[in-house]
Amino acid sequence: MSRKLGLTALSAVAALTLAACGGEGAGSNNNTEDAAPEDLSIGVSMPTQTSERWIADGNAVKEQLEAKGYEVDLQYAGDDIPTQTQQIDQMITQGADALIIAAIDGTALGSQLQAAADEGIPVISYDRLIRDSENVDFYVSFDNFKVGVAQGNALLTGLGLPTEDNPEGTATGPFNIELFAGSLDDNNAFFFFDGAMSVLQPLIDDGTLVVKSGQTEIEQVATLRWQQETAQRRMEDLLTSTYNDGSRVDGVLSPYDGLSRGIITALSNNGYGPTIDSGAQPMPIVTGQDAEIASVKLIADGVQSSTIFKDTRLLAEQAVIAAEAFLEGEEPEANNTEDYDNGVKVVPSYLLDIVTVFADDIQAELVDTGYWTAEEVEAGQAE
Ligand code: GAL
Repeated sequence: MSRKLGLTALSAVAALTLAACGGEGAGSNNNTEDAAPEDLSIGVSMPTQTSERWIADGNAVKEQLEAKGYEVDLQYAGDDIPTQTQQIDQMITQGADALIIAAIDGTALGSQLQAAADEGIPVISYDRLIRDSENVDFYVSFDNFKVGVAQGNALLTGLGLPTEDNPEGTATGPFNIELFAGSLDDNNAFFFFDGAMSVLQPLIDDGTLVVKSGQTEIEQVATLRWQQETAQRRMEDLLTSTYNDGSRVDGVLSPYDGLSRGIITALSNNGYGPTIDSGAQPMPIVTGQDAEIASVKLIADGVQSSTIFKDTRLLAEQAVIAAEAFLEGEEPEANNTEDYDNGVKVVPSYLLDIVTVFADDIQAELVDTGYWTAEEVEAGQAE
């Protein structure tokens, strides 16, 4: 009896010590270790439903958590920051035991994360790093710098220039290119752009590539909220301001399929295409990311050149593994503890690998792996 009391007293001290550590040891004053998954609920906050990738992410996380027995509260915030903060506040007041968050603005969630930490709720930052808060317990994503490197290399390969992956390239240039980046409030946008520029800058410096508009700074080429229409408008402006002298754009670095579709629309409205192989005014080489089905069809049809495939099923799996570890009172296993400094601390991360997809890779990488069916690729939409 006394031994039992002693243990209880000890664990009370341990709990107090843990709680005093604040953000450290998520789940500290939120005793989930002994609970059955059925009694635990996980809030999943996703940025928007306008992009099909986030729908796939949300569904995959929800399905995989439910398969393990957890209750899931999945919310989409319509790319509106106040909506996302309000949804997360509500998840916390409704007693979420863990949070999985893909932020709209990576810097806007400080007070929500503080509230989560105060309740001992572990927070997993999903694909986009949440910045400026010590209360981010784990980060699951892809190797985002590598995504940018792959996009830069895909642009070179599309143009026929030699690269490490494609030493057979025989083109020499010079080629006119334009650069696009993602949303400046998304940490990933910088990783993608820096990765791509690590490949492109030396060729810009030696004249093989010419950014005719002169716009090479991320602030000049960024696209707020990753919006397709914004990219389309900027491409249209570039064509009018820079390419009205008979010159042509040969390639466009685009970091995301949604932007690529806006860029392609602008180009086809201005006499390019319809395909990369069209005679007089071929469609420029346009890169992408996410293997969104509408873009996979454009790639199959020879309109868009490439995309970067990031398997959202595997990302969801890592988020679920991390949530489960925290709920069981353990730390999830990280494979990167160096690269993702959120301004306050380096967040332990699990980064997944990526695959570059050109038309010839669609079958093996996207259809054979069950990501899209051949019918969906043919139709250009999810079933
Ligand atoms: C990024 C993400 C990309 C793309 C983009 C627009 O954060 O890493 O894969 O989805 O958002 O949604």
